[in-house]
Amino acid sequence: MTAPAALVTGASRGIGALIADRLAAAGWDLTTSARSAGPLDEQAARLVGSHGGRVRTVPADMGSEDDVVALADAHLETYDRIDALVLNAGMGSIGPFADFPARRFDKLYAINVRSAFVLTQRLLPALRRTAGDRGTAKVIAVSSLTGVAGEPLNSAYGASKAALTSLCETLNTEESSGGVTATAVCPGYVATDMTAGLADQVSPEAMIDAADVAELVVALTRLSRSVVVPHVPMTRPGPHLWRA
Ligand SMILES: NC(=O)c1ccc[n+]([C@@H]2O[C@H](COP(=O)([O-])OP(=O)(O)OC[C@H]3O[C@@H](n4cnc5c(N)ncnc54)[C@H](OP(=O)(O)O)[C@@H]3O)[C@@H](O)[C@H]2O)c1
Repeated sequence: MTAPAALVTGASRGIGALIADRLAAAGWDLTTSARSAGPLDEQAARLVGSHGGRVRTVPADMGSEDDVVALADAHLETYDRIDALVLNAGMGSIGPFADFPARRFDKLYAINVRSAFVLTQRLLPALRRTAGDRGTAKVIAVSSLTGVAGEPLNSAYGASKAALTSLCETLNTEESSGGVTATAVCPGYVATDMTAGLADQVSPEAMIDAADVAELVVALTRLSRSVVVPHVPMTRPGPHLWRA
């Protein structure tokens, strides 16, 4: 039987790199994407060397609609099906609501939400076809706890992630009867490059391990079409259940 195929955005570092690694280890074929080609190619060589399977790399900026469409098309050209679409690429940016620049809000929204909308829409016929052939196809977005509960300095980032979570939830209401199901995974702080600047406030050891986020994403790919998991909050140990 042909291996399942996943498209993972933001796959070259952090959470996305661990998702790509775990999927490759589980026998998946992959399309991996990020803006910089070098790290993607090095990662692909590593994954193929360690696990076999196929890895297609497609450099793409999630802020560019042309890139997003080309990424979807490149994936289908290579595999002609999609068992899992992992919407992981994202931009972080914090600042007080009072003077957060609207232009930066637009950029966050384009990268964190609009790209996910365009990519999913473009791949939806293939997701439906794959679900028809194999029972299910998954859309899994790496969203954020700041989109579940408001948090100081996160008005724009949190709003973009709340919208991403909402996209997943609504997609389920329209598509899950046909086997295409979506989940927004919503972690608090995860120890990656994105949170390196926060190390003086929360030590990386106190943050969620990126491997645990990757593990959950891979577990979601294993679920059958009998269940819909709209979103999953993930929080750090301690007294604040809903704080990143
Ligand atoms: N770290 C956290 O605390 C945390 C918590 C909750 C949710 N998240 C979410 O988890 C996801 C992954 O975050 P991470 O912490 O693993 O980040 P990371 O370590 O900074 O990695 C980000 C990945 O996305 C790619 N990327 C960044 N901007 C991009 C763009 N405009 N277009 C295409 N690819 C882009 C990066 O590669 P290039 O730079 O080469 O493009 C890299 O592969 C994000 O959506 C983030 O919002 C993170």
